[in-house]
Amino acid sequence: MVLLWSFWPLLTPVAAAVEAEWVDLLQSRARQFTTILETSQPEPFVTVTARNVSLNAWGNETAPGVALELVSGSTAITMEAIKIKGGLIQSFSLNNRNILLQRPHMDQMDGNIFWPGPQSKWGWPPPKAIDPTPSKDFTTAYALEIDFMTRSFELFSPVWEEQNLSVSKKVSVDVSRMSFLIDYGIHVGGDTKIKWAPWEISRVQPYGLTFFKTGSEQTSGTWPSLDLKHRDGVTWFPQVGDKASGKLFASTVPSLPSSEMSWLAHTDGALLFVKCFHHIPNGTQAPGELQIEIYDGTDYVEVEQQGAYQEVFPGQPVTWRVEWLLRELPAGAKPIPGERLLVAAADELCS
Ligand SMILES: *[C@@H]1O[C@H](CO)[C@@H](O)[C@H](O)[C@H]1NC(C)=O
Ligand SMILES: *[C@@H]1O[C@H](CO)[C@@H](O)[C@H](O)[C@H]1NC(C)=O
Ligand SMILES: *[C@@H]1O[C@H](CO)[C@@H](O)[C@H](O)[C@H]1NC(C)=O
Ligand SMILES: *[C@@H]1O[C@H](CO)[C@@H](O)[C@H](O)[C@H]1NC(C)=O
Repeated sequence: MVLLWSFWPLLTPVAAAVEAEWVDLLQSRARQFTTILETSQPEPFVTVTARNVSLNAWGNETAPGVALELVSGSTAITMEAIKIKGGLIQSFSLNNRNILLQRPHMDQMDGNIFWPGPQSKWGWPPPKAIDPTPSKDFTTAYALEIDFMTRSFELFSPVWEEQNLSVSKKVSVDVSRMSFLIDYGIHVGGDTKIKWAPWEISRVQPYGLTFFKTGSEQTSGTWPSLDLKHRDGVTWFPQVGDKASGKLFASTVPSLPSSEMSWLAHTDGALLFVKCFHHIPNGTQAPGELQIEIYDGTDYVEVEQQGAYQEVFPGQPVTWRVEWLLRELPAGAKPIPGERLLVAAADELCS
C-alpha cells in the first residue's frame, strides 16, 4: 500500500498556504509520484481532499466540501459531499460517471441524504437542521472534519432543537473490498430516551432498474403503487419516466440464508450500485415503514433503506453502517428484470 505520508519529506513546506491548498498540492504531487510507482506496483491508494464540490448538473455553482477517492489501477471510485444541503453526498462516481442524481438547479433535491425515521414523526418538510433543502434554506450547514491520516471524513448536523437531535455521517474506504463505508449516527441530548430509525435516501436518474430480494411484505401505503416485476425471489422496479409518482414499502431477506446482510441495488444500464446493510427482522422496522422504500418521483427515483427502530439514549448515539459498492455491469449482464447475473453480482458484493 502506497501511503500518502511517505511523500511528506519530499515536499518543501509552504508555511503561508492554507491547509486545504497545501493538501491539494501534496496530493497532486503524491499522485504523480504514485502513478510512476504504480507501473511496477499497482497498489490501491486513497486520497481525501478538501475541495469545492459542484452543486448542479452544469457544474457552474460550487460549495465547500470534500472528496474521498479510491484508485486501483485504472479504476477510480470517488465520493463527494458538501456541508450545505444537509451534509449531502453529492456524487458517487466510477471513473467520473456519477450514479447519484445531480439536478440542474442547486435548490432541487438530489444526491444522497439521511433522515431520522419514521416520517410520521415530522411530516414534511424534514427538520431543517437535518435536511434544509426541501425548505430551501441554504444558510445552515453541517460541520466537516477531514482526517487526512485515516483518509476519512465526518459531517455533523446542527441540533434539531425540537427533538434535541443531531446526525453524523462518517465516511471511510475499505480498500480490500473496494467499497465505501458510511457510518451514520443519531444523537440525542437531554435526559429522555426516544425511538428513531436510521434512513438513507439515494436519489438516482429515471429510466433505471432498482431491485432487491423479496421479503414477506410489500405495500404502497396511501400512495399509488409501482409497476413491479417479481422474478425468482427478487423484486424489480424498472422506471420508465412514469407519468405519476408512486411508492413501495417492502421488507427484504438476507443476501444469503447464512448472512446477516441484505442489499438494495440499482443500475442505470451501465453501472451497478449496491448498498449493503444489516438485515432487520420483521417487526423491528419503524411504524408505518419497512426496511426498503422506493419512491418514484417521475423524473427521479429514491432508492432507500432503513435500519431498526430503536431506543436512542442521551449521550449514546445509535450508529448504523451502510456499505456502498459501485461497479461496471458484469460481463454479459442485461439491465432487465430477472437478470440473474445482476442478482449474483449483488449477492457476491454483499456477502
Ligand atoms: C472554494 O471556492 C472559494 C470561492 O471561489 C475559494 O475562496 C476557496 O478557496 C475554495 N476552497 C477550496 C478548498 O478550493
Ligand atoms: C449555469 O449554467 C446554466 C446553463 O448554461 C445557466 O442557465 C445558469 O444561469 C448558470 N448559472 C450560473 C450561476 O452561472
Ligand atoms: C439538549 O441536550 C443537551 C446535551 O445533552 C442538554 O445540555 C440540553 O439541556 C438539552 N436541551 C433540552 C431542551 O432538553
Ligand atoms: C411480518 O409481520 C406482519 C405483521 O406485522 C405479518 O403479517 C407477517 O406475516 C410477518 N411475516 C413474517 C414472515 O413473519
